[in-house]
Formats: sequence, C-alpha cells, structure tokens
Amino acid sequence: MIETIGVLGGGQLGRMLTLEAKRMGFRVVTLEPLPNSPCGQVADEQIVAAYDDLRAIGELGARSDVVTYEFENIPLDSVLSLESDRRLVRPDARVLHVAQDRLLEKAFLRDIGCLVAPFARVGDQRELEAAMQSVGFSAVIKTVSGGYDGKNQWVVRDEAGAREAFAAARGALSIFERFVPFDCEVSIICARGADGTIVHFPVTENIHDHGVLATTIVPARVGEDVVEQVRHQAAQIGAALEIVGTYCIEFFVCERALYVNEIAPRVHNSGHYSLDATQISQYEAHVRAICDLPLVEPRLIAPAVMVNILGSGTGDRLEGVADLLRDPDVKLHLYGKRHAALRRKMGHFTVLGPNPAAALEKAEAGRRLLSWRRRVEAVPA
Ligand SMILES: Nc1ncnc2c1ncn2[C@@H]1O[C@H](COP(=O)(O)OP(=O)(O)O)[C@@H](O)[C@H]1O
Ligand SMILES: [Mg+2]
Repeated sequence: MIETIGVLGGGQLGRMLTLEAKRMGFRVVTLEPLPNSPCGQVADEQIVAAYDDLRAIGELGARSDVVTYEFENIPLDSVLSLESDRRLVRPDARVLHVAQDRLLEKAFLRDIGCLVAPFARVGDQRELEAAMQSVGFSAVIKTVSGGYDGKNQWVVRDEAGAREAFAAARGALSIFERFVPFDCEVSIICARGADGTIVHFPVTENIHDHGVLATTIVPARVGEDVVEQVRHQAAQIGAALEIVGTYCIEFFVCERALYVNEIAPRVHNSGHYSLDATQISQYEAHVRAICDLPLVEPRLIAPAVMVNILGSGTGDRLEGVADLLRDPDVKLHLYGKRHAALRRKMGHFTVLGPNPAAALEKAEAGRRLLSWRRRVEAVPA
C-alpha cells in the first residue's frame, strides 16, 4: 500500500503536488538542495541534499513507497540507483532518459510518426557547419540537457549568429532545430495509469515571453480537428513511453501542420489552471496514477486564463494583491519564494470566465495591477 510519496525536486510544482497529495491523506517527503523550498514548506519532511547525492537519494527511497519527480533535470543515475534498490519510481527511468535529452526526445517522436521541426546534433564545429546546411535558418540552438524556461537556448538567424550561440553554449552538446513559425502554441496534460488507462485534460493555448510561459488560455482557441489530433498524439506518446503519472505534451500549431515541441513527464506549468477550473487537478491525477487509484476524465467547470507572476528584479514585495483579489473570479497562488529575481516564477493567478475572451481581458487587467517593490525592512527602535 502506498502511504508516503517521495518527490525529487522542491519547486512550485512539487508544492502544489504535495498540497493535493496531503489533502488526499498521503505523507510527502521531498529532496531538494535548498532548505525551506516551496515544496519543503508544505511537505512532511525535506531531505536537504544535492540531486546526485546517492546516499541521500537512497534515504528518500527508503522513506517512500513511490518516488516521483517534479522536473526532468534530475540526474538519470539517481533514478537508476533507486530502481536498482528495487524502489518504485513513476514515471520510470526510461521515460526520464528520453525526456531529459532533447536529441533522444526528438528522435523518439519522429520514430513513432509525430511531426517535429527538422533538427541536427551539434557537438563540435564540424557538426555545426553540417547542421546549418541541412536544417537551415531561422533556427533555435538548445543545449541537449539542462535547459528549462527558455534557458540555454538561442534563436539564430544566420551563420554568424549560430557560431556565436554555439560559442555561448561553451561546447555543450546541443540540438540545432529549425524555427517553427507557429500560429500558436498549445499543450495538453494527460495522466496514464499503470493499467494503460489515459485521461485527457482540455487542450490549452500558451503564450510565452522570452521562452517563459506567461499566459495559458483554456480551452485553446483552435478548431476541433486540432484538438482531436493533439489528444490522439498525446495518448500515442504516453502509451509508447508507458508513462505512469501526469505528463504534458507541447505543440506548435501551424496553418496546416501540428509539430510536437516537447514531452514533460511530470505535472506542468500549463496545467496550473486545473487547480481551479477542472473538477480534478493535474496534481490529483498524478497522485491517483502513481498510487494506483482510479483515473477519471477531467471536466472543465469554466473557461479560464492562468497568468504566471514572474519576478522583475526590482524587489521582493508583491504590490497590488489586494486590488487583484477584489475580483471574485480570481484565484491567487503564491509559492513562498523569498527573492523575486528577473523572470523567476513566484506565483500565478487563475481567472474563471464565462468565455476565454472575457477571462483573458480580466487576466491582462489583473497582471497590470501587480508589481514588485523593495521590501521595507523594520527599523530597529
Ligand atoms: N523550434 C522552435 N520554433 C519556434 N519557437 C520555439 C522553438 N523551440 C522553442 N521555441 C520557443 O521557446 C519556448 C521554450 O522552448 P522549449 O523547447 O519548450 O524549452 P523549455 O524546456 O525551456 O520549455 C517554446 O515554448 C517556444 O515558444
Ligand atoms: Mg517547453
């Protein structure tokens, strides 16, 4: 029987996962290098250790009945060591291996018949020259591992730009991907159980700013044919990888084609809305899937827009909260992070609306109310 869930990673995704797991009666232990992490603040215990500290990882495994992760940059060896100790890890190491390596991921997607942007491997200068010829411009150069929120990636328009970007990557193994001139970006959250059951959340439309998610609109403003294809391909990917848990697939929608961008084998930022707008959240679905509880089809209660509250580097105190909360359709979530560094994810709010356009209008008005100011420190008497 599963009583305790171990979570690798202590960020906001782990925090919201933990809050849902605790509501459902589970114990949660997280492992994360920084003390008092967003997840550690709400979990039963936090093991403060590096992700590659195999002794601490073993300790997490010993204290948990199932181990999961809230981001994919966990060293593969840590998950492999849990599995070799015969600990249950969901999703398993094979899934993590594919999802944390952009080259493996793109090759896997292409091999199962999904359309992906033309790409090539770039490990040295010679491969860079070859990639520029075979893939062409514009393009995006991304390090194969370790990137998130648009970090470690560069949009390049010509050969000089590509050489400069590869130099900025300091020789890290990279992928050279054709830039897709998309009409919009969409994603879907699914959850898959060990018995192969798959449930789908609604397709969402995502707007990014500098590679960081800014806004999610649900349902996405795309045709029924796109929705059908997204659902079908996401189920196909989940089944092919035998994912157990919640996962997210990101897509680029072009006029006539649907490209898969990436696989996140975990709860995802574009699914935050589900805490407030569907009868079961992506976090609850994950708990159900990894604990062998029944999965049910999520139902959208109301159209919604989720706005990420990002740091601006101008201070750590969030102003405008009282004004934002005057709107009865706004639900605020803050993650307990102290420093609001530039573009750091500090919280989000969800607006429920009668339709996506009305919710979007309120969301933009809400965003304008918020700003970061310097904390006023108490002056000693
Ligand atoms: N090939 C591409 N064509 C167009 N835009 C891209 C491409 N790759 C990435 N982007 C943009 O950058 C964002 C972040 O890239 P992504 O590959 O999803 O990395 P991350 O792991 O940081 O989320 C995407 O959501 C998209 O807006
Ligand atoms: Mg992404």
